[in-house]
Amino acid sequence: MSLAISTTDLAKNYGDVRALDGLSLDVEQGEFFGLLGPNGAGKTTFINVLVGLVGNSGGEASVFGHDVDDEYRRARSRIGLAPQEFNVDRFFPIHEVLVHQAGYHGIPKAEAAERADDALRTVGIYEKRDSRFDWLSGGMKRRFMLARALVSDPDLLILDEPTAGVDVELRHDLWDIITDLNDDGTTILLTTHYIEEAERLCDEVAIMDDGRKVTVASPDELMARGNDTVRLRLREPPATVSDIDVERVESVEIDGDTVVATAPTGGEVAPALIRQLDRQGYTVTDIDIARTSLEEVFIALTGDSGGGGDGDSEDSRDAEQRERTSPEVSP
Ligand SMILES: Nc1ncnc2c1ncn2[C@@H]1O[C@H](COP(=O)(O)OP(=O)(O)O)[C@@H](O)[C@H]1O
Ligand SMILES: [Mg+2]
Repeated sequence: MSLAISTTDLAKNYGDVRALDGLSLDVEQGEFFGLLGPNGAGKTTFINVLVGLVGNSGGEASVFGHDVDDEYRRARSRIGLAPQEFNVDRFFPIHEVLVHQAGYHGIPKAEAAERADDALRTVGIYEKRDSRFDWLSGGMKRRFMLARALVSDPDLLILDEPTAGVDVELRHDLWDIITDLNDDGTTILLTTHYIEEAERLCDEVAIMDDGRKVTVASPDELMARGNDTVRLRLREPPATVSDIDVERVESVEIDGDTVVATAPTGGEVAPALIRQLDRQGYTVTDIDIARTSLEEVFIALTGDSGGGGDGDSEDSRDAEQRERTSPEVSP
């Protein structure tokens, strides 16, 4: 079985809201897979169906070949989840919370204690093992959420916006930790609306909007779908652009003393542009090539600016999301 996640026509309705609208997605074992989409796209719902927190309204989903409905326990046992919302037992030291968590996954107590220590070391908060969750700083809470997902040594690690609102240093730290895990063979499903995060980490990205899959591709492939912008500054403003005709250039405009051209690959067309301008008597004094960003492609596909995530659309839905008791919910 080479698929970590496979869904076919997956649907989930909340009353009139189609949170998932026929989503078919495959994630291969060992992949670092990104789920990208604006707020409300259905990312968290997708995850909640995978881990059995909500039942689906149609279609099928399996994790390592185990149907998430019919073989809920087998599917769930392979997954470590760091949910978007903190849902942690606040009355026990965090080390104990991890031991409980390992217990849900059937790990004997002595081993669970060791795993808990290991997980806390991995995320860098071992010295806080006797603290309660509430006593941790915001950044440490994020680290703890990752530790809790790791304590069962999952084959599939699901991270729902793990870096939303965290500072740059912690973000890079978390990136390093999960990159190492992926290098060691853990399949990773990460949701984010930070484009840079997807670009840096993911082998493949699915862009979601309105409960549907808009596209699946590698970050490089996605970026190749947009145009680079080539800006050539001239010593004196050019009169007209009508004479500029270079293969693969999609558009040419004049902006003051600068010729602005767009093309799939800026570096390929820049020399020919310079030659043509030179032939017309213009001297190029400066050149700048801006690569397409994944963000531009994302905006083109979803109409959303991405990048900003503060998770403000998530509010009081937690109770309903937990139709089914999950290991991540306190006993
Ligand atoms: N428990 C719920 N009850 C009602 N509507 C919900 C619930 N959970 C999610 N939704 C709605 O489903 C859609 C998808 O939400 P969500 O999966 O949280 O998106 P994302 O994680 O991509 O921001 C949104 O319109 C959201 O308001
Ligand atoms: Mg979400």
